[in-house]
Amino acid sequence: MLYDNHGRLINYVRLAVTDRCNLRCYYCMPEEGIKFVPRQELLTYEEMERIVRVLAALGVEKVRITGGEPFVRRDLMSFLRNIAANEGVKKIALTTNGVLTAPHVKEFKDLKIHSVNLSLDSLDPARYFEVTRRNEFDAVMRTLDALLDHGIGVKINTVVMQGQNEQDILPMVEMTKQLPVNVRFIEEMPFNGSGQHYKEWVWDHRRIIGHIREAYPLLTKIPDPPHSTSYNYSIEGHQGTVGVIAAFSRTFCGTCNRIRITPQGLLKTCLYDSGIFNVRDLLRAGASDAELTGAFTEAIGHRAKDGYEAEASRFLHSPVTESMATIGG
Ligand code: GTP
Ligand code: 5AD
Ligand code: SF4
Repeated sequence: MLYDNHGRLINYVRLAVTDRCNLRCYYCMPEEGIKFVPRQELLTYEEMERIVRVLAALGVEKVRITGGEPFVRRDLMSFLRNIAANEGVKKIALTTNGVLTAPHVKEFKDLKIHSVNLSLDSLDPARYFEVTRRNEFDAVMRTLDALLDHGIGVKINTVVMQGQNEQDILPMVEMTKQLPVNVRFIEEMPFNGSGQHYKEWVWDHRRIIGHIREAYPLLTKIPDPPHSTSYNYSIEGHQGTVGVIAAFSRTFCGTCNRIRITPQGLLKTCLYDSGIFNVRDLLRAGASDAELTGAFTEAIGHRAKDGYEAEASRFLHSPVTESMATIGG
């Protein structure tokens, strides 16, 4: 079992399989895209499988596949089959934008995928286009239908952006009346390839919940799963639930059980740090499993206490500006 220097059990890795994406979400990257990582610098699937094997032997049971958009990487499903074959891996989760996902949903349950986090920032096709700069709303809806049809748990990620999609908050809540989904409103973070969008930051978790409560006075706090990033609520008569993720306020660091591997193999022990060491370089230098285990254990033994401490420790105090696609969310 892996414990960090603050006594937190680490049993969850977020693996970003690519930094490429078929959307250009306003909160994630500029319209022209970002400088994508050259292919030879990306971890290969074999390298990722080895990393998962080493981490699973250390007690990591949950693997979340992120990107970029995971399904733009060729042969993702074969990779998922290989990861799922690892007995130490109990649960595979996916965060996807849903554009290319629908055809694969029927296979998910066989691959230990029982829950998918779907990015969807508007229920209005025109606003969806404004936020993502691509016309893919219908494809995402097909993925949502396929997930629900196959009994896969769905969390919908909605980043709340000043001047972009505030008018979508209440329609997204209303959607939970008919659909058994967990809609989570996320505080926008400056991980967009160019830095903070606003002089003044307005949609924090308190304001989001306050806004929902005005329209839905019956909003009731429900218990959150352990290590949850979201604070969750039910509304009487609704099949689904709503939640808020204080990603920028960082109120949930005390129970954080996760580490991250970026597409180019950087280990991050916090979303806000600038990377602890490059696992790919160790692998390509011929490190043994014991050496990899030692490197992970050492890094986890020196983890920042929270996202503020991690941000303060960034190399030369460089501000947070990289795109979420190069981190994996
Ligand atoms: P589960 O807990 O496995 O459901 O995953 P999640 O909700 O953390 O994953 P998801 O990829 O759906 O991310 C939702 C939002 O939470 C994104 O904006 C992430 O960047 C943010 N997030 C995830 N983990 C962390 C974290 O450790 N710290 C912060 N500040 N934000 C996080
Ligand atoms: N701030 C907050 N959340 C973000 N995401 C992407 N970029 C940002 C950002 N700048 C979220 C998306 C996606 C998840 C992995 O991260 O909603 O679902
Ligand atoms: Fe693509 Fe996700 Fe970034 Fe949107 S948030 S551009 S879907 S990686």
